[in-house]
Amino acid sequence: MQYAWWHDAVVYQIYPRSFYDTNDDGIGDLNGIIEKLDYLHWLGVNVLWLSPVYQSPMDDNGYDISDYCAIAPEFGTMEDMTRLIDKAGSLGIKIVMDLVVNHTSDEHPWFQAALQDKNSPYRDFYIWRDAKPDGSAPDDQGSIFGGSAWQWEPNTEQYYFHLFSKRQPDLNWENPAVHDAVYKMMNWWIDKGIGGFRLDVIDLIGKEIDKGITGNGPRLHPLLQAMNQATFGGKDLLTVGETWGATPEIAKLYSAPDRDELSMVFQFEHITVTWKDGDKWQPVPLDVAALKQVLFKWQQELADTGWNSLFWNNHDLPRAVSKFGHDGEYRTRSAKMLATTLHLMKGTPYIYQGEEIAMTNVAFPSIDDYQDIETRNFYDLRVAEGVDPDTMMEAVYQNSRDNARTPMQWENAPQAGFTQGTPWLPVNPNYTTINVARATENSGSVLYHYRELIKLRKQYQ
Ligand code: GLC
Ligand code: CA
Repeated sequence: MQYAWWHDAVVYQIYPRSFYDTNDDGIGDLNGIIEKLDYLHWLGVNVLWLSPVYQSPMDDNGYDISDYCAIAPEFGTMEDMTRLIDKAGSLGIKIVMDLVVNHTSDEHPWFQAALQDKNSPYRDFYIWRDAKPDGSAPDDQGSIFGGSAWQWEPNTEQYYFHLFSKRQPDLNWENPAVHDAVYKMMNWWIDKGIGGFRLDVIDLIGKEIDKGITGNGPRLHPLLQAMNQATFGGKDLLTVGETWGATPEIAKLYSAPDRDELSMVFQFEHITVTWKDGDKWQPVPLDVAALKQVLFKWQQELADTGWNSLFWNNHDLPRAVSKFGHDGEYRTRSAKMLATTLHLMKGTPYIYQGEEIAMTNVAFPSIDDYQDIETRNFYDLRVAEGVDPDTMMEAVYQNSRDNARTPMQWENAPQAGFTQGTPWLPVNPNYTTINVARATENSGSVLYHYRELIKLRKQYQ
């Protein structure tokens, strides 16, 4: 296998909103990341993947982008971004950007133009269909965030398609003009010196909705090959696709080097093994034997062709130590066990912010304390369908995305040292004992364990 730098890299994922706030508005920012670069360098990671920091109305915390080439003011400016890329670069750390091109925000100028005028060249950037004769939606496809995937638009009297919130209209990847616009934007970022892309829900762009196909559509791999050629191909960048529907066979299509698609993909089989019938709101107790089988299978299947990404958690998932370990008495031991298991497998490991100090899930008293659009939507939907509110709340405690999004716990100080203001999402009350400052003082901490694992990987590359 031909060597690539990302084969022995360790990636650290930052959810900027919750990482470190430098101007007291309760929201983490790019300057906050810059201030913590020395910590990340000390930890030893070589890549930072940033969840989206682009201009956005924040309906889905930035996964709804209204300008791909601007930074959201709450995160900072493009100058800050350039400084981050440069300063990280001087420490040998690359920045991987989140590429969200299955959809845009409804506030993106492309969608605004499409809304105004059926004859706009941007109309066909999105997916429009007529109503059925009775006025109802074209079909019964559902949104991943709950409800119909179709939204009626009264001005031009058609429905548009959205696999996530109605404020995240899907781009029409059957339109070559969409490819060109996206490639141009990607090349703009590549020219700024970034280290690669994490491609958000990329397995959805080959959709053929008139046939009811959304994930793994027939055009998916040709689309990725074309994107590779027009943008990151041959530039030695790390590209990782988020692919919920990937089997090992499919993962090889994406990541076999001779296919010129992506470096690697995130597959989710070790996550969904903790869900009943693919439904995260029906968590089932962890079946360790089943989990082991999944991990083995992926190691074996991608041993010779393709490449695995290794992760326990991210901004959409519960905290690993709470889900796969024990977040009470055995928190430290089980977190080290999970870290060791993951980092000694073949593939590129990803650490999600706070994982290195074994941050845990949170249990806010009321659903109103939750901010995540998916959590709120599904709570309302399921309770309306008759699910007992306490049962639903238990599912939220287990699997809500906000478990991962509580502010980073830096020290035993007000708001965990994350902000001097009021954090956008409450801190986990256990910050008094679980925090970076405390872990730094103790060479037996989970933090030092991660640092050693990262060192080992560098030593034995
Ligand atoms: C991905 C992101 C998630 C987001 C969704 C829609 O799954 O990780 O946070 O809500 O795509 O962009
Ligand atoms: Ca801030």
